[in-house]
Amino acid sequence: MNELPGPSLIDRDRLLSMLGPFGKRFVIELLPECTSTNTLLCERLRQGAPAGLLLVADRQTAGRGRLGRTWLSAPEASLTFSLLWRFDDDVARLAGLSLAVGVALAQALEACGVTGVELKWPNDVLLNGGKVGGVLIELEAQRDGLWAVMGVGLNLFLPDVEGEDFLHPPAALADALSSPPDRQAILAQLLLGLANTLDRFAAGGFSALREDWQKRHAWQGRQVRLLDSGRVDREGRCLGADTDGALLLETPAGIERCFSGDVSLRAT
Ligand code: BTN
Repeated sequence: MNELPGPSLIDRDRLLSMLGPFGKRFVIELLPECTSTNTLLCERLRQGAPAGLLLVADRQTAGRGRLGRTWLSAPEASLTFSLLWRFDDDVARLAGLSLAVGVALAQALEACGVTGVELKWPNDVLLNGGKVGGVLIELEAQRDGLWAVMGVGLNLFLPDVEGEDFLHPPAALADALSSPPDRQAILAQLLLGLANTLDRFAAGGFSALREDWQKRHAWQGRQVRLLDSGRVDREGRCLGADTDGALLLETPAGIERCFSGDVSLRAT
């Protein structure tokens, strides 16, 4: 097992008192260290873990990002966790799940007093143009439904990652708050937001959340490039997300629906 025993940076009692009755929707495990909360939660899922299991790690030794990237984070400086959830839907309906999680994160951060949070397709949370957080969703079909491991990484403070080549420079919540970020309060707000948003998503799919996503979309109406493994795949005007979570690009050939890749702003 890749877990170290010991005290966590999260105060469980404080967290539970902030969650109130919603605390019952989560089974919370606090880990001082693990490889990756997503990797560990995928293993736990195969061992029969319950929906609502939440792994919060102070330190990840092998944090993972989207498209096989590494997710770098330092304890104290970041909040990293993964949440296990079960859906009755088919895979196609879950295509918009990472966008739905983005909406939950943005609304929760706004409730904590952070202004200027924006979303970028499909999984980035931006703050003043920099990347403050990301979402990594991994799905697994089982006999009783479709299970999602939803990993979230948020920079509370700026990570010490000089020299790294980022699509976006990193941003930190500390720079948008008047007092140092309160780890418990932010996590509690994120969990409350996730419980609420995941209920809405289960009932109505991404279309129920689309408006909330679109109004926070960083690059609505801007000229962008869709990159596939670093190469330009398509270019066009970004119209945001479709009701199923696909990216909408207005190109000379018409409106195209895109399902994977990275989006970057086209230099003018
Ligand atoms: C991305 O922006 O590419 C997604 C980053 C997701 C990082 C989080 S941190 C908690 C969870 N465990 C991981 O290994 N990754 C996700």
